[in-house]
Amino acid sequence: MSLAINGGTPVRTMPFPVWPVWGDEEIEGLTRVIKSGKWGRLAGKESECFEKQFAEAHAAKHGIAINSGTTALRIALTAADVDAGDEVIVPAYTFIATASAAVEAGAVPIFVDIDRDTYNIDVRLIEAAITPRTKAIMPVHFAGRPADMDAIMKIAARHHLVVIEDAAQAWGSAWKGRPVGAIGAAGCFSFQSSKNINCGEGGIILTNDDLVAKYARSHHNCGRSEDGLWYEHFYFGGNYRITEFQSAVLLAQFGRYEELKAIRRANLDLLNELLGCIEGISPLPMQEEVTSHSCHLYIFRYDKRAFAGKSKQLFIDAMRKEGIPTSPGYSIPLYKQPVFMNKSFGPRGRKVELPVDYASNFCPESEKACYEEAIWFTQSVLLGTEEDMQDIAAAVRKIQQHADELKG
Ligand SMILES: Cc1ncc(COP(=O)(O)O)c(C=O)c1O
Repeated sequence: MSLAINGGTPVRTMPFPVWPVWGDEEIEGLTRVIKSGKWGRLAGKESECFEKQFAEAHAAKHGIAINSGTTALRIALTAADVDAGDEVIVPAYTFIATASAAVEAGAVPIFVDIDRDTYNIDVRLIEAAITPRTKAIMPVHFAGRPADMDAIMKIAARHHLVVIEDAAQAWGSAWKGRPVGAIGAAGCFSFQSSKNINCGEGGIILTNDDLVAKYARSHHNCGRSEDGLWYEHFYFGGNYRITEFQSAVLLAQFGRYEELKAIRRANLDLLNELLGCIEGISPLPMQEEVTSHSCHLYIFRYDKRAFAGKSKQLFIDAMRKEGIPTSPGYSIPLYKQPVFMNKSFGPRGRKVELPVDYASNFCPESEKACYEEAIWFTQSVLLGTEEDMQDIAAAVRKIQQHADELKG
């Protein structure tokens, strides 16, 4: 049986499940909002209701819904007292928003490599990146796997730093039984289209800190205070509010979250079993401290030596032709993105002089993840059936058997 990329029959032609999953609840929510005539959050109750539910589920005192995860991070940083020129430690392997939110807040991202087994920030490397200018650590709970919050909170306490959790992919994830999001000074989640709880675009800031909550809420609502006059603005800010339509959809999506998470978790475990015994494929090991995992992405490391030396990209191309939607994930470590290499943080990309040299950064695990090893399946793949997971393993085995036939 030859490879589909060489004209053979693919392992499967059936599509994987589509995302988003939605039903009557989302339609009823949207209809409810339309009929209410209260479409913005200042008039209605949907956003407040979602904030309360989401915060409670994450053991957080406050929830402030925001119009995106990126904006949530940017607002949370300033609300947590990160100032212009402060350095913020972030992992080098993450979505651009983790670092760009720091830039938007006037701060300077400092990149730290990831741990090979978790793809989260390598906590052993954080202290070496701390300087007198460091103000915050921003761990990412990547793919839904909580970062090592014990180590991070200890380092932060030792150096008087604040911790802002980028929990954009980690709804309901927990570290040693404690939900992520409000372990640090604040945590930010995303509800953008690709996310497990989706309202098109959206985010939320969680915090147990009353001051962080006060300034975050004000910042997202034009600098108003809770009890001030309508045209009284005690703080700077903008309009980063969410609509009642988004919140109604979020309430419905949140209602089906646990059920879908259980399917993804079962498939993640099955894939670990099926792929873990194929030479050259290393699923990231589970950790006992991770007591809940959103399973937003499934990640494994690819070792080309077990595939006739064929590149990660060629393997991915072959998988796709076999009918398996396979992603290379982040393709460039963040410090190598042009915006950082050129420090184009000024208006129209003008270079800003900063006491940091991104061009000399080198994070070997992040580079390996981007260029050679990391392969992702997104959440819609994880929503498939047991047979779908068997097809994934069959495709990998088929490509391995015929690896020397891959051209390139
Ligand atoms: C790790 C991480 N941080 C931040 C964000 C930003 O969220 P949003 O797309 O809602 O702005 C995302 C979303 O893609 C993300 O994956």
